[in-house]
Amino acid sequence: MEQYIINGGCELHGSVPISGAKNAALGIFPAVFLCQDTCRIENLPQISDVHNMLDILSSMGAHIRYLNKNAVEINTAHAQNLPTPYEMVRRLRASYYLIGALLGRFGKAEVALPGGCDFGFRPIDQHIKGFEALGATVQITEGGIVQAEAKEGLVGDSVYLDVVSVGATMNIMLAAVLAKGQTVIENAAREPHIVDLANFLNTMGADITGAGTDVIKIRGVERLRGCTYSIIPDQIEAGTYLALATATGEEVTVTGVIPKHLESITAKLSEMGAEVIEEDDSVTVRRSKNERLHRINVKTQPYPGFPTDAQPPLMAACLRAKGTTVFTENIFTNRYRHAEEFRRLGAAVSIEGRVAYVTGVERLTGAPLTASDLRGGAAMLVAGLCAEGATELLDDGYIDRGYDRFDACLSALGADVRCAAPR
Ligand code: EPZ
Repeated sequence: MEQYIINGGCELHGSVPISGAKNAALGIFPAVFLCQDTCRIENLPQISDVHNMLDILSSMGAHIRYLNKNAVEINTAHAQNLPTPYEMVRRLRASYYLIGALLGRFGKAEVALPGGCDFGFRPIDQHIKGFEALGATVQITEGGIVQAEAKEGLVGDSVYLDVVSVGATMNIMLAAVLAKGQTVIENAAREPHIVDLANFLNTMGADITGAGTDVIKIRGVERLRGCTYSIIPDQIEAGTYLALATATGEEVTVTGVIPKHLESITAKLSEMGAEVIEEDDSVTVRRSKNERLHRINVKTQPYPGFPTDAQPPLMAACLRAKGTTVFTENIFTNRYRHAEEFRRLGAAVSIEGRVAYVTGVERLTGAPLTASDLRGGAAMLVAGLCAEGATELLDDGYIDRGYDRFDACLSALGADVRCAAPR
């Protein structure tokens, strides 16, 4: 259990190099099962989800060699198709990508239902719909194990996703790249990390077109080969820092980013009154602490709409804005647990189903908080930096799952944050 001690009131200045995208890395690692050569993957974030996923691959016999803290070589030639137990996947939602990858490699997969952040009901029916469309039989055992098998091998087909699902889109791609014939995913998700996985697979020799649109075509190929690949930057990590700078003032630059991936987030920060300056691979937010932020309306949507993962940090930035900001969370049924914690700081937040009303207050006061999930925990750090006095945040490893040395990066920007308990 980490314990962060935060003293609010500091203005932030400086720049933050943004890490590789967590949700791209977590789809790319299982994809290495689809070839039997060595893959070199670069620009890896140093986060626990990445280490946990690599531990799972290693437990199945994959050879993992760290080249440095941000690059790794993986070879699965001698990996075995072992069942992936619950205790290994319980905190890693992305473990479900192993189903698509193992089906593609071995024609069979046995993976415990995924864990991950609790935002309400998070089914995988669309993943299963895709695997069954490719000819696999899928069942979920009493112990919560997903058993998928394609005795005759996978055969491409068309799949219409009833829900725009990032996970299902990526999982079906993983299963389809070595299937016989063509697979078409309709109503596909369009997130940048989906494009990154498609680019990685194509670098291995797959034949995927349309990633980034709502129709993705995958023509099955005979085999894939090893490659070297660098992961895209994490737009949610970058958006968290920009929301933080907007909340506290003064000026923060995120470097090594793709500004287009951040457009829906920076558009909201501009509406709030921040100045946003975009360069080729960096974005700067500038805001005077003396000017009060404006209220906004935020509706989370699949990419390129406003990302649900940026909703908690943006809400933290709105806690002192003038007027009432209205959030509508359209992706998950219960993603406002951080709002309950904000009240402890004196925030005025009310929840009605999927809608949160945040009425800006003049001041927040430090209080003890407990992180409930990955982005919510980061948002509480943001809120603590906007509060007067000390905030103690208890975090059961959530923040480290998705942010690379978050406290150290905040301190480098001038924030008064320290992690009191040993990691
Ligand atoms: C991915 O989760 C991300 N996780 C989440 O990021 C992110 O919030 C989410 O996409 C939306 O962008 C990873 O990539 C590991 P979905 P995922 O399938 O794949 C419903 C973070 O903080 N749905 O796009 O689980 C689902 O319940 C994490 O980095 C079905 O109904 O999200 C949700 O309401 C948190 N059936 C909606 O679709 C399915 O089979 C979108 O879910 C699948 C999903």
